[in-house]
Amino acid sequence: MKVLITGGAGFIGTKLTEALLKRTDVEKITLVDIHESTLTGSDPRIESLKIDMTIQQNIEQVITADITHVFHLAAIVSSHAESDFDLGMVINLTTTQLLLEQCRKTNPNIRFIFSSSLAVFGGQLPAEIMPMTAMQPSSSYGTQKAICELLVNDYSRKGFVNGITVRLPTICIRPGKPNKAASSFVSGIIREPLNGEKSNCPVDSSLKLWISSPEKVIANILHAGLISTEKLALLNFKSLNLPGIQVTPAEMIKTMNSVSGQDLSSFISYEHDPQISQIVGSWPQCINNDIELSMGFIADSSFTDIFKSFEVNNTNQKGCEL
Ligand SMILES: NC(=O)c1ccc[n+]([C@@H]2O[C@H](COP(=O)([O-])OP(=O)(O)OC[C@H]3O[C@@H](n4cnc5c(N)ncnc54)[C@H](O)[C@@H]3O)[C@@H](O)[C@H]2O)c1
Repeated sequence: MKVLITGGAGFIGTKLTEALLKRTDVEKITLVDIHESTLTGSDPRIESLKIDMTIQQNIEQVITADITHVFHLAAIVSSHAESDFDLGMVINLTTTQLLLEQCRKTNPNIRFIFSSSLAVFGGQLPAEIMPMTAMQPSSSYGTQKAICELLVNDYSRKGFVNGITVRLPTICIRPGKPNKAASSFVSGIIREPLNGEKSNCPVDSSLKLWISSPEKVIANILHAGLISTEKLALLNFKSLNLPGIQVTPAEMIKTMNSVSGQDLSSFISYEHDPQISQIVGSWPQCINNDIELSMGFIADSSFTDIFKSFEVNNTNQKGCEL
């Protein structure tokens, strides 16, 4: 495999690269991002390029005929795309089309894995999202992702790329610092109290969220890259909802307190944010994943397990910093 990852220095790009490096069939991984990857120089198979993917010449430079897989992760996230419409249109939409077009010109057999989001859904949603549930985004980010999904599907239908879209649940618990995603608080209300820091829950604590651990999301994105072309051909529309589990902020906090054995509730405030509540409240709360599970994608078993896995990694990281 010769892999290109756009947004390769980002959270998912870094974790995906680490997973790819464990495979012996991966010959080369080109990471492209406007930021330097922390993995630069860590493995001879990594080529790290600090370039802007909105520029056509850069796209032409990196999509070469020998590339077998493009994981397209570069994006600005939900609240950022909502506050900067023009930047969102360029990075989230135009760049995806330019990449698809370059794959078409260079090598139509490239497996193109596009990272979409639950934000493509919105409006009056059914209690359970089914494969045929229509995309009706309630944000600019969701709209940009939805248009890209249609493009990936049509380029694949035409045989211009070997494409697949994976809609990611909200990733929880994400390590590191808060970001500009509307859902950033979902990780923050656990991660910050565990580190002795304050965090705000801007939505009703009984809001049902659809989440997945970073480990399962990475395994599933990788699976989307490896799944056979014959299996993909059976899909009418090339978008899949990655499996997740349903949980509310109140349930997450209760689990944190009981599993950690300490009452960390006082670190959490509940200052309502109407914009975040509107965006996150418009996302699906439950998804039927029968098709995805039958295709070999995997789900977390419970929030307790997600929490325990994060706690172990968090403690290890703190140990390293000492
Ligand atoms: N993390 C989640 O919960 C989640 C949920 C749904 C969808 N997604 C999608 O998954 C993908 C990756 O998300 P992430 O959490 O790793 O985000 P991230 O912000 O950590 O990574 C995105 C990367 O894209 C890079 N980038 C932005 N503009 C660029 C440009 N012009 N040229 C090159 N690189 C550029 C950024 O520098 C960043 O490193 C995104 O497409 C996001 O929309 C993430």
